[in-house]
Amino acid sequence: MPATTPTTPPGVLVIVPTYNEIDNLPLILDRIHAAAPGVDVLVVDDNSPDGTGALADGRAADDERVHVLHRTAKNGLGKAYIAGFQWGLERGYEILVEMDADGSHAPENLPRILAATSVGDLVIGSRYVAGGHVVNWPLHRMVLSKAANLYARLALGVGLHDITAGYRAYQADVLRALPLDSIESHGYCFQVDLAWRTVQEGFIVIEVPITFTERAIGASKMSGSIIREALVKITYWGIKQRFAQATHSIKESRRNPVIRADV
Ligand code: GDD
Ligand code: MN
Repeated sequence: MPATTPTTPPGVLVIVPTYNEIDNLPLILDRIHAAAPGVDVLVVDDNSPDGTGALADGRAADDERVHVLHRTAKNGLGKAYIAGFQWGLERGYEILVEMDADGSHAPENLPRILAATSVGDLVIGSRYVAGGHVVNWPLHRMVLSKAANLYARLALGVGLHDITAGYRAYQADVLRALPLDSIESHGYCFQVDLAWRTVQEGFIVIEVPITFTERAIGASKMSGSIIREALVKITYWGIKQRFAQATHSIKESRRNPVIRADV
């Protein structure tokens, strides 16, 4: 099998966090390598009680493109991704992709997302741009996701349409520029946290449309504490940002006082 295909840039690592995804993991690994044979995959498992980690080890033993990072306990999606990013950066991967294990993020879209990394430092697979869709989500999840995006846009003043999206490709340079060790977001607000930091660092972020399909197997890990963490953190970042802007303009006006000749 060739190391890369024409649609797959070299040095791509797809990071797949797992917690109790034993029935989904074989399906997603097969689909990833059918869609993009040249990519490596890192499964980051938080000691899933259902044996997902052991299954991942078996796949890694059979396929040198599959790797596994075992963590000791369930510590949130954000911490799993940070460990995966650090693993990938240490090994020199050029593009690091985030993808859920449950099939919501179609691996068949991966070549299109990877192709867009030639223009974007961060490419977000977006449900809420023209051509994007959500399939089979219950109304309450749709409302929550739309409300979270609207709130983040207003609080942070970021023009992205799907800032909570979990299907993304980062250029390694972006992740090297961020203080990964000090990022404290555990749950899904991690996605907002990283997108916002990426925008603030001046990197180019682009959104490409994807169809997000609700999982057919297993259960979501969304919880009240994940929602509360997102609400509290986004509000805090928004207020901090407003204060920083206000302080900056006060300092600027002292340095460059506006002198009006008409008074
Ligand atoms: N290692 C690890 N540790 N993996 C986790 C953890 C954890 O604590 N929590 C969740 N995961 C894994 C799941 O096993 C799955 O592969 C992926 O992270 C996404 O989890 P889901 O529970 O399926 O997320 P969702 O479908 O409710 O949420 C989706 O939408 C969110 C809002 O847009 C995801 O795409 C999120 O990334 C996204 O932020
Ligand atoms: Mn899911």
